[in-house]
Amino acid sequence: MHQRPRVFVTRRLPGHSVERLTQAADVDVWPGESSPQPEALRRGAAEADGLLCLLTDTVDAALLAACPRLRVVSSCSVGVDHIDIDAATQRGIPVGHTPGVLAETTADLAFALLLAAARRVVEADRWLRAGSWTWERRWDPEGFVGRDVHGATLGVIGLGAIGRGVARRAAGFGMRVLGWTRSGRAVEGVETAALESVLGRADFLSIHVALAPETRGLLGRAALSRMRPGAILVNTARGGIVDEAALCEALASGHLGAAALDVFASEPIEPASPLLTAPNLVLTPHIGSASIATRTRMADLAVDNLLAGLEGRRLPRCANPEVATAPGGSVGSELRRS
Ligand code: DGY
Repeated sequence: MHQRPRVFVTRRLPGHSVERLTQAADVDVWPGESSPQPEALRRGAAEADGLLCLLTDTVDAALLAACPRLRVVSSCSVGVDHIDIDAATQRGIPVGHTPGVLAETTADLAFALLLAAARRVVEADRWLRAGSWTWERRWDPEGFVGRDVHGATLGVIGLGAIGRGVARRAAGFGMRVLGWTRSGRAVEGVETAALESVLGRADFLSIHVALAPETRGLLGRAALSRMRPGAILVNTARGGIVDEAALCEALASGHLGAAALDVFASEPIEPASPLLTAPNLVLTPHIGSASIATRTRMADLAVDNLLAGLEGRRLPRCANPEVATAPGGSVGSELRRS
């Protein structure tokens, strides 16, 4: 008798995507309100043919080794820095992810943070709620003066779909847009330049590269010191790209005018993190893709990837396509045999 594949899903997902999955597989959805602890993840995935995970689940070589039946991993995220892609590739396991569907929503948040940091929106909101808006201070010529966004120069680090989306928004605001990308690709409306040059010329800098060995610490102490005095930094990509201690120093010294972060080296942010007390810093809890429509689209694409992997088809969006294109029939079979 043909056995239905087993799938472990590490969180409840928005929309009806998991119902689609249950038509093709026996599905076990982790019932918790937070991600499973590593041991629970290992137990849940141990007998699974497919794993549908989030960016909060660490899928390392040890986990993959503990799941001998695993034929596909699908992450409901564009970033795959929580997955050991090399280990998955060596095992012939394709890894699905969700690029494209969250680009515009994340670009919206990057721009919202840029505006919030430039115009001190969060600080002003806090001040008003604290009861500081008195009759005497009802309009202050120097109150909450920030930076103009229109007419300023934006540097976009990474010109993938999200970076390009931010560049388009900036053009609508009358900004001049500089861009840096490792490939040096040309993008309409963006003046591409060397990283040094972008750092030294941008009034605002928005980061849109994936976290990889080459980009970890890209905005370290030296790079931050090359930014223009008073510049504003926005990071909606991954925390490990920016040196947080150096950023706190640059804000405290006034070298940087402000910053806004949606992502952190360690999530959730440590209660003792100096970021929580750094001046002129807007913080949000990794909500770049958080719109109902986008989270639903991400879940749908994650399920499409998983179903393709279970059926031995090419994954619609694969982070290690060398597995998906392996010769010899079903997905990854040659690599798994070798
Ligand atoms: C991702 O998908 O990698 C984002 O960081 C969260 O949506």
